[in-house]
Parts: sequence; C-alpha cells; structure tokens
Amino acid sequence: MAEPRFRPLAAPPPPAPAELLARAEAFRDQVATRRTVRQFSPQPVDRAVITACLAAAASAPSGANLQPWQFVAVGDPALKRRIRQAAEEEERAFYAERAPAEWLAALAPLGTDADKPFLEAAPWLIAIFVQPWGRLPDGRRVKHYYATESVGIATGILITALHQAGLATLTHTPSPMGFLNQLLDRPAHERAFLLLVVGHPAADAQVPDIRRKPLDEVCSWLPAESDGVD
Ligand SMILES: Cc1cc2nc3c(=O)[nH]c(=O)nc-3n(C[C@H](O)[C@H](O)[C@H](O)COP(=O)(O)O)c2cc1C
Repeated sequence: MAEPRFRPLAAPPPPAPAELLARAEAFRDQVATRRTVRQFSPQPVDRAVITACLAAAASAPSGANLQPWQFVAVGDPALKRRIRQAAEEEERAFYAERAPAEWLAALAPLGTDADKPFLEAAPWLIAIFVQPWGRLPDGRRVKHYYATESVGIATGILITALHQAGLATLTHTPSPMGFLNQLLDRPAHERAFLLLVVGHPAADAQVPDIRRKPLDEVCSWLPAESDGVD
C-alpha cells in the first residue's frame, strides 16, 4: 500500500469578494455563448490548440486519481471518412428502426437526422473512451472507480476549454458507438463515451432555437433565502 505524500497547495491568493463575483459572472456569460454546432467550416485548427485543450481535460479530477480516460484526436481525412460512414450506418438504423418514438420526439426540436457531414467537414474529431479498468506498471489490473463520472467531468472541461479558445463543438453520440474501438484501435474493454466534433462553425451555421430551464427550476437553496450572513 502506497504511503500518502503531501506538498503545499500552490494556489493564488484569494480574490476580493467583488472580484470573485465579477469573475463568476464573466465566466457564466462566456459559457452561455456556447452552442452545439452542426455545420462546420473546413478551416484548419492547429494541433497545438487541441493539445492544450486536451491537457486541460486531462487535468480533471477523477475517482482515486485513476484518470480513466483516453482521448483520440483524429485529423486524418481518410479516417474521418470511415468514421462518418460507420456512424451514418448506425444512425440510419437508429432513426429508421431502433429509436423509440419517445426518443425521436425528444430529438425533433433539434432537426437532426442520419446524415453526419460534419464528421468529415470539421478539422478534428476527438473520440473519448472510458476505461473501466487499467493496468498497474507491474501489469496487474486495477479497477477504476467512478470511471463514467470522471470521464463526464473531463469531457465538460474539454468542451469548455475548446469554447474558451474560440472553437465550436458538437457532442455526438452515434448509437451504438462500438465501431470506434475498431476504427481507432482501442482495446475491447474501453467504452466509447462520445465523439466530439471540433472546429470553426460554417459561416452560415444555424442552431436550434431552444431554451434553458430557468435557474430557479434547476437549483434549490437551503435555507431558501439569504439570512444576510452569506
Ligand atoms: C451526452 C450528449 C449527447 C449528445 N448527442 C448528440 C448527438 O448525437 N447528435 C447531436 O446532434 N447532438 C447531440 N448532443 C447535443 C445536444 O443536442 C445539445 O447539447 C442540446 O440540444 C443543447 O443545445 P446546445 O448544446 O446548443 O446548448 C448531445 C449532447 C450531450 C450532452
């Protein structure tokens, strides 16, 4: 069993309350401009930008720090074409046969269908895999705790980092996604989590006119009102 080792937290000094609020509100406003984009420009994006955003994602917290993720960044046009073909095959079966009516009804306001041209148009696809277990340096298997939760958090950071950098993303989940293991040469025990489409939006990109739930519907407070102390 490894002994814990500690070092001082390298944290910047805490901001004054007004600065804290200003930063929180600025971040809120910045992330509120993120939208899922489904029409991409072929304009290239430097690999260094993707690398920096992946490094941000890989800094995410994870259950027992086991970092149960693998990110596969795909810029190769031939491989993107094969991913598109495989995804569209699954999506055609999904929309025509597999999807229950309730799911199709939920998707209706988005106007999505089985055609996925963005999988070839966008300069980068990032496939994200969950590793339910990994290997210790001595080859023994180690279970990954809260693997799905950890990968979800890392993916949220990745989407936010890409948006913050000035890029658009599409969180794509072709159903099912097993073909990604084969095309991207990932071991069978890894589970494709989602496929992130990354690039600049097309000049004429349109997004569905949809709304967020109001904050008071999704947040509750205990106590309900500020007592002036907080
Ligand atoms: C887990 C997850 C899976 C999604 N899968 C798809 C998908 O397969 N295809 C798609 O067009 N959008 C997909 N989306 C995007 C959502 O439709 C989109 O986030 C939602 O409609 C809200 O729109 P916004 O991101 O523009 O605010 C997915 C989003 C999430 C979080």
